[in-house]
Parts: sequence; structure tokens; C-alpha cells
Amino acid sequence: MSMRQLGVNIDHVATVRQARRTIEPDPVWAAVEAELGGADQITVHLREDRRHIQDRDLHLLKQTVTVRLNLECSLQTEMLEIACQVRPEQVCLVPEKREEVTTEGGLDIVRQQQRVAAAVRQLNDHGIEVSLFIDPSLEQVQASCDVGAQAVELHTGTYANAWLDDKVGLGARQGQAAATELQVVRLASQKVRELGLRLNAGHGLNYRNVQPIAAIPGMEELNIGHSIISRAIFSGLRQAVADMKSLILAATEA
Ligand code: PXP
Repeated sequence: MSMRQLGVNIDHVATVRQARRTIEPDPVWAAVEAELGGADQITVHLREDRRHIQDRDLHLLKQTVTVRLNLECSLQTEMLEIACQVRPEQVCLVPEKREEVTTEGGLDIVRQQQRVAAAVRQLNDHGIEVSLFIDPSLEQVQASCDVGAQAVELHTGTYANAWLDDKVGLGARQGQAAATELQVVRLASQKVRELGLRLNAGHGLNYRNVQPIAAIPGMEELNIGHSIISRAIFSGLRQAVADMKSLILAATEA
């Protein structure tokens, strides 16, 4: 994969559909629009509780998406079996708690190395590349390398929350919160590259906070959902994706 690609997460389109348990809006249509806007990858999270993306969506996306398909899923046996059957280009392993609104923290590789290593082997045996969604800590990056993953996706949620804090919070850290968290992501990124893994990032990225992350040396893929789908309500999805893609390509180190 060349540098700085945009993966568009279309889960929220399915969330709207599931609010009525009906047939629209269809995430398969969303994938088409995202591709026309310049998406390099379509990302979906098949959750154990099927709250948004359904098995039907995943199968149709596999047949229709012409860019890379990135499936986010948990380590559950059933999920790994579905992944091996569908064979997306990449699986991103994520932690999953039923009560959470969205994926809250990274997958703890350090504490379950053997289980993750087995999942990586199983997926690789089916020709699927594996990315691990982890917190930007040096220990988790090292463990990701040890279990044989091809890539990591650094969780940018803490950076994004800090950015929001600087923007609309009480300013307890006097506007320096995001800069501090950016440095944490930068350090982890450096280690990812030293270990020879592919460097991806995502969670909480939006049109105003994405560029410093996109500008990190070696950054290959950003997966973005909420912010793009939110803007699409007003501008249409094709335009929303095109706007995000332009920002990512124009990003330079601050
Ligand atoms: N990456 C991963 C691994 C995720 O779980 C999510 C959320 O589903 C995202 C990226 C996208 O996050 P956001 O919707 O905040 O852009």
C-alpha cells in the first residue's frame, strides 16, 4: 500500500438503517459513493451483537467493493471463522465490550499474546493481512510485532479527546493536551516503523484534527467513520470523502 490512504468506515450508515430495521440506507450504496469520492479502502466492523453491519452487508461488500476491504472484528471464534470465509484483504482485530458505544480502548496484546498469535496465524493462513488495533504504547507495539501481525492501527481516541478538550473544554491543560497526546502517537509510530510493521491509525479523527496524524512519517492508512458520515448528512458522502482525502494528502509535518 502506498502512503497515506483513507479507509472509510461506513458502520454508521448501517446504524441508521437498523434504527428502523429496514432496508435503507444501504451500506453497500455507501461503499460505492465512498469509492467515487476517492476512498482507498472500505472499513466495516461486524460486531458480535450485529448492532449495525449485518452478515449480508459483509458478503455483498466483498462482492462489490473494488478497493481494499478491511474487516474489524473481535477475537471470538465465530468472528474469525466468518473472516476466513469472506476473506477481506485485511482484518483489524479489536476488543469488544457489549455495553460500549464504540471501541473504547486498544486490544491488549501484551496480556493475551498466545491467543492473538493464534488468530494472526489463522487469518494469515487464509491469505488475510492482520492489523491490530492498539493503544499507542511501546509495549503494545512490541507485542504486536512478537505475535506476527503485519500492521498495527494506533488508537487515536485519546489524542482526539484531548483535541476536543483544547477546543471546547475548560482548558485545564491550557490548550496543550492535544500536542502532548500527538507526541505519544508519534513515538509509538516511530517504533512501529523500526519494527518493520505497517503503520495505520484511527478513531475520533475529523476534518480539523486529522492533519497532524496524517503527517506522521510512515503513516500509511487512516480509518475514519463518524466524522465523514456526519458531514455527509450535509454535503453528501462522495463530497465528504473527497474533502477528507484532500486534507490527508495535503498534510505536512507541523
Ligand atoms: N478504527 C477502529 C479500529 C475503530 O473501531 C473505529 C470505530 O469503529 C474507527 C477506526 C473509526 O473511528 P471513528 O468513527 O471515530 O472515525
